[in-house]
Amino acid sequence: MLTGRNIVLGVSGGVAAYKAAYLARRLVEAGAAVRCVMTESAGQFIGAQTLAAVTGEHPVEGFWDEPEVSPHTDLGHWADAMIIAPATAATIAKLAAGLSDNALIATALATESPIVLAPAMHTEMWNNAATQRNVALLSADGVTIVGPDRGALAGGDVGPGRMIEPEEIVAALSRILEGDLDGIRVMVTAGGTREAIDPVRYIGNRSSGKMGNAVALEAASRGAQVTLITTAPAPDALGIEVIAVETAQEMADQTWSRATAADVVVMAAAVADFRPQVAGEEKMRRADGMPHLELEPTPDILAGLAGMEDRPFLVGFAAEAGSLDGALHKATTKGVDLLVGNDVSRPGSGFATDTNEVTIYTSDGAAEHLPLLSKREAAGLLWDRIRDMRSQG
Ligand SMILES: Cc1cc2nc3c(=O)[nH]c(=O)nc-3n(C[C@H](O)[C@H](O)[C@H](O)COP(=O)(O)O)c2cc1C
Repeated sequence: MLTGRNIVLGVSGGVAAYKAAYLARRLVEAGAAVRCVMTESAGQFIGAQTLAAVTGEHPVEGFWDEPEVSPHTDLGHWADAMIIAPATAATIAKLAAGLSDNALIATALATESPIVLAPAMHTEMWNNAATQRNVALLSADGVTIVGPDRGALAGGDVGPGRMIEPEEIVAALSRILEGDLDGIRVMVTAGGTREAIDPVRYIGNRSSGKMGNAVALEAASRGAQVTLITTAPAPDALGIEVIAVETAQEMADQTWSRATAADVVVMAAAVADFRPQVAGEEKMRRADGMPHLELEPTPDILAGLAGMEDRPFLVGFAAEAGSLDGALHKATTKGVDLLVGNDVSRPGSGFATDTNEVTIYTSDGAAEHLPLLSKREAAGLLWDRIRDMRSQG
């Protein structure tokens, strides 16, 4: 599975470090050459000798007492991929800030290869705003975050924070390195459109673009060739082609003109249904009295794609508030292959959050409800479904 691959395993100082030896063993069994780099704190939880015995190479433990002159750049260049497991809150924070004051972080900064990070910590530390901010930053930088799971934690607590199982880390790494979406041409739309009322005001919506960005990042990390048509700040990662647009019309023009060159289109953008018929050339003023806004429909981008003769595999999104009936209706009537519905009124779900609880519908109305996940994890499962459906023809 990982035959001939060079994997750097970074181990930081949490209780789950004891699982790092087992993870290293699974990587070796999968055919990889494994070299470890550990933090000083990791040495409190697992012996360097254990990792050396499993991998056949003594771990890098610092900058200064190693046989190599520059161990971090050697490792970074050698790696086809780097796993950081367990990743403590401290290591996540340092990596998000680019603070390379130990060999593990320096190696992560020195590599241009993909990084998979498996957080492990107490629930309170995981839920802490700083940790969540750092994880979101790393995810936007293209780092693949796997887990954490819910489960028993050190000290008898139970909750999210437990390191995901080593087998799942190996599976995530394999998906990235094997590139199960290799060569697929993907187009993703993201963000909320803005329809001008006058030079300073617009009709808009609360979409942040985070879900679309996660869909684009996940596809790119798994080998797809990705074009992201977006109104929102886009991730600067893995060579995603970014087309900036503002209005529904601009998004429609870009999407329709490029759709024939795409194998899969995922419409995660929140597109306005209506726009002002005429946008005022001058700023409206209170003194001029109550304005009268005449609206007209915007182009239905999804319908346009669904009506194409040789259309790409089509995934729509529906943001609903309260009930997902509207999403189900859209799934069965819009001519899409898959429709992702989410109730934006639920806590942790919808706009501007880093998590989402979605239901994936097929066009016959069959529903698969996913639990509350990070947007990147939800995107990963969505791509698994897309991949499987396309391979079944
Ligand atoms: C017994 C014990 C267990 C710990 N477990 C964790 C843990 O699971 N996750 C975590 O983020 N920090 C944990 N810590 C705190 C880290 O060891 C500490 O933040 C350290 O500075 C991490 O450094 P490193 O990321 O450079 O390895 C633990 C500390 C102790 C004393």
